[in-house]
Amino acid sequence: MKPASYATLLSTVAALGGLLFGYDTAVIAGAIGFLRDYFGLNAAETGFAASSALLGCIIGAGTAGTLSDRFGRKRALLLSALLFTVSAIWSAIPDNLIEFNVARIIGGVGVGMASMLSPLYIAEISPPEIRGRLVSFNQFAIVSGILLVYFVNYSIAGMGTESWNTTTGWRWMFGSEALPAVLFMLTLLTIPESPRWLVKQGESERAEAILMRLSSPERAAGDVRAIKDAIAHEASSVRELFKPGLRRAMLLGMGLAILQQITGINVFMYYAPEIFKSLGSGTDVALLQTVIVGACNVLFTLVAIRTVDKLGRKPLMIIGAGGMAVSLIGLGWAAYIGTTAAWVLVFILGYIACFALSLGPVVWVVLSEIFPTRLRGRAMAIAVLLLWTSNFVVSQTFPMIDEDPGLISMFHHAFPFWLYALFCVITIIVVAVFVPETKGRTLEEIERSWTRRKETPEQSS
Ligand code: BGC
Repeated sequence: MKPASYATLLSTVAALGGLLFGYDTAVIAGAIGFLRDYFGLNAAETGFAASSALLGCIIGAGTAGTLSDRFGRKRALLLSALLFTVSAIWSAIPDNLIEFNVARIIGGVGVGMASMLSPLYIAEISPPEIRGRLVSFNQFAIVSGILLVYFVNYSIAGMGTESWNTTTGWRWMFGSEALPAVLFMLTLLTIPESPRWLVKQGESERAEAILMRLSSPERAAGDVRAIKDAIAHEASSVRELFKPGLRRAMLLGMGLAILQQITGINVFMYYAPEIFKSLGSGTDVALLQTVIVGACNVLFTLVAIRTVDKLGRKPLMIIGAGGMAVSLIGLGWAAYIGTTAAWVLVFILGYIACFALSLGPVVWVVLSEIFPTRLRGRAMAIAVLLLWTSNFVVSQTFPMIDEDPGLISMFHHAFPFWLYALFCVITIIVVAVFVPETKGRTLEEIERSWTRRKETPEQSS
């Protein structure tokens, strides 16, 4: 098998983690109404049942880094697959709300772990020329997982009456996740450990054998030497990440993770049907429009996959964030003048398309590339923890801001959209000024560029 094909095969297995990430975060959308009726939930309990998994995501992102630096990328991925499986089965059979929430939090831990481990593993096994494409493939899996579960929920709901769905249908919605989760676990058993992690553990021979298949027999020994050399100069304490040199990478990773969320994507992912209803659609049409949003997300992720290694990370992010800003300003305008005209959908789809070809995949690509091997797991975990926390804050505050409280009322419901547009503009500036172009460079070259800056600090200003 050609090296690029082998890397693609391994990335596909790792990307099943992305698929489960999407599946698990979106399954709740179709089930929440039935759950509410079955357990007789009030508004606060319904809100918590919908978002409890996000708490788990924060825990998972916070722990996966240390686990993967100590025990290896593959073992940590296996643990996340196990958590997905346990959670899928358990959240299908609970008799009370507490059990249900515990099961969902366990799945959330799996999502939080996989959300960083899949791109990290893919980046570490990829040849530099196609690394952006392969990590973006993980985002493709995330959005495919979201779309897939919309269909699964829709089909299950159509299998019985309202009362069957209330007692039983929702259980199948959660239980159905066991299938991809077990597939993920079984296929993970067949992939090798990351060669970069192996070198860090002093297992250079095993690493070289794997690199022979991933690059070429001639290049493998040189690759191992370059990785060894980079690791020898690397800091091993997390504190180093906040000292001059690497601090720049750390702040950048944290900033991009937060910006990916506060530019509003999950307001659309989680509240799309509600937004469409507030624009005048009936429930059925709103669900159909939501599927169109999901499909648009999948389609435009393909644009990123095709272009990220040619155009580069920076142009994609700048173009995408620009398009997101314009769409959000338009959407805010529609809200401001109170129109429910069909053209509003164009702005929503424009926003989704622009996110899908830029911040969606590319933030994950950059996060998986900018940290040194020894600390990559822990550094990425800090950034991803902030990503999930920002997600939680945005999705919890949107309904509150959208009610137009106090002074915000002068914006006539445009405020959240214009606020997210402002963050898109900040994203453009941050990317243009601070993000280094990483396309085509090896992880070791990217790493050296930070420490070189440290030696000549005047360059870093
Ligand atoms: C983001 C998620 C989002 C998904 C949807 C991912 O890159 O991290 O928060 O739900 O894209 O497109």
